[in-house]
Amino acid sequence: MDADRRLLIACLDLTALGDDEDERSIEALCERAIRPFGDDELTVAAVCIWPRSVSLARDRLSAPGVRVAVATGGFPLPDAPLPQRIEEIRRAVDAGADEVDVPVNRFLLDEPDALVGELRSTREAAGSATWKAIVETGGSGKSVACAICHGDTMKGLGNVPRLAGLHPIYIARQLYLFKDGSRNGVDAQLMKKAVAQLTDEDILALAAYLSSLVP
Ligand code: HEC
Repeated sequence: MDADRRLLIACLDLTALGDDEDERSIEALCERAIRPFGDDELTVAAVCIWPRSVSLARDRLSAPGVRVAVATGGFPLPDAPLPQRIEEIRRAVDAGADEVDVPVNRFLLDEPDALVGELRSTREAAGSATWKAIVETGGSGKSVACAICHGDTMKGLGNVPRLAGLHPIYIARQLYLFKDGSRNGVDAQLMKKAVAQLTDEDILALAAYLSSLVP
């Protein structure tokens, strides 16, 4: 393999942030991170995983220099209270994370002081671990935020329903119902923030886009 390719691979983060990651999938990920190409000495830079898998990954990666990065601090949607997110970061670092990837709280975009305050406290909680703030485009990209829960291809994820290929009028109606609180079941709470900022135009565009996707 040529030097450029080796360098690219050595810079990769292998990510496993599905809902259903278990011991096996994390072990397989670590195995691949250590030996992306069989016996070669080449490794990737890091695995990127959920906080609950940090100790396991740490254990499996102990010998070679693959780092453990963790998506934490409320990732992907920082809607839990700050102290809870801070605690999650601390625990991940205590469990051996080398890097914490924390979402920038876009619900605070109109409150810059509060936003900076949050970033400072998550930075502090990271201690000597590398701290990375992740800027998501969900607020303006609109549908990116939906994929976090509804799946990359909008085909549903775990208990979260499929959106791809639903009737556009149905989609639009549901979004209005979430927005005005008429659709208000236990699971509907998760939709509240996603719809809060949507304009009529957004709803129209989302309905058209989502219904155009292959179910
Ligand atoms: C935090 C997770 C989350 C995010 C982000 C999210 N959703 Fe949802 N969504 C849900 C859940 C959970 C349900 C099921 C709600 C229920 O059963 O009442 C749902 C239901 C829906 C439904 C109704 C589907 C049906 O079959 O009735 C639509 C439409 C929808 N979401 C669109 C969106 C759009 C568009 C976005 C992005 C702007 C989005 N969602 C973002 C979790 C989420």
